[in-house]
Amino acid sequence: MGQPQYFQSHPDAPSRPGRIALQLAGGRVELETDAAVFSARRLDPGTEVLLRNLGPVPPEGHLLDLGCGYGPVAVALALAAPAATVWALDTNQRALELTRRNAESLGLANLRAAVEGDVGGEVRFAGMWSNPPIRIGKPALHGLLTGWLDRLAPSAWARLVVQKHLGSDSLARWLEAEGYPTRRVTSENAYRVLEVGGRAAA
Ligand SMILES: C[S@@+](CC[C@H](N)C(=O)[O-])C[C@H]1O[C@@H](n2cnc3c(N)ncnc32)[C@H](O)[C@@H]1O
Repeated sequence: MGQPQYFQSHPDAPSRPGRIALQLAGGRVELETDAAVFSARRLDPGTEVLLRNLGPVPPEGHLLDLGCGYGPVAVALALAAPAATVWALDTNQRALELTRRNAESLGLANLRAAVEGDVGGEVRFAGMWSNPPIRIGKPALHGLLTGWLDRLAPSAWARLVVQKHLGSDSLARWLEAEGYPTRRVTSENAYRVLEVGGRAAA
């Protein structure tokens, strides 16, 4: 089976603009979406669970939304922490462009939509959130997650939303076995939110 369109870095699907409304702690916002980005027609139910369980958002420092799509999580973080720098990372250029436009239309100058290579090697994150790209397969997912988890600042944590049927519990066990303290924050509508700390020093 091929990868979905939204995995392409430069999707060639014709544009089909849409809008999605989000109810965030600070009020209702509308975001632009388009064909060939993840969950372009409605807020993904997993993302919805993560948005309700962001936990305390550090007010400053660097925050990471890994796999931002059109930007619902990054926008929520940037609104919650106007003095922080929110990195919205994706490989899909159309998703990044939408995230940029959504940030701009909401006046969020603290949001940077970027690819991995744009993040300076010295950057350490005060928090990380992700509805991760499970469909890239286990080895790639493990490499992606640990690469970014290893850039958490001391005592910072990540929150990941993963569908039960897509292996949330085995991912939690794997992370724990690899030395990343992991706990389940909530289980709602077949989704788990995991909180993951940095790897314990060997
Ligand atoms: C499950 S979607 C979540 C999108 C968005 N956060 C949301 O909740 O609607 C995962 C995203 O990860 C992106 N992705 C895939 N591989 C990636 C990588 N290596 N680095 C960053 N993002 C990646 C996909 O393009 C996709 O937009």
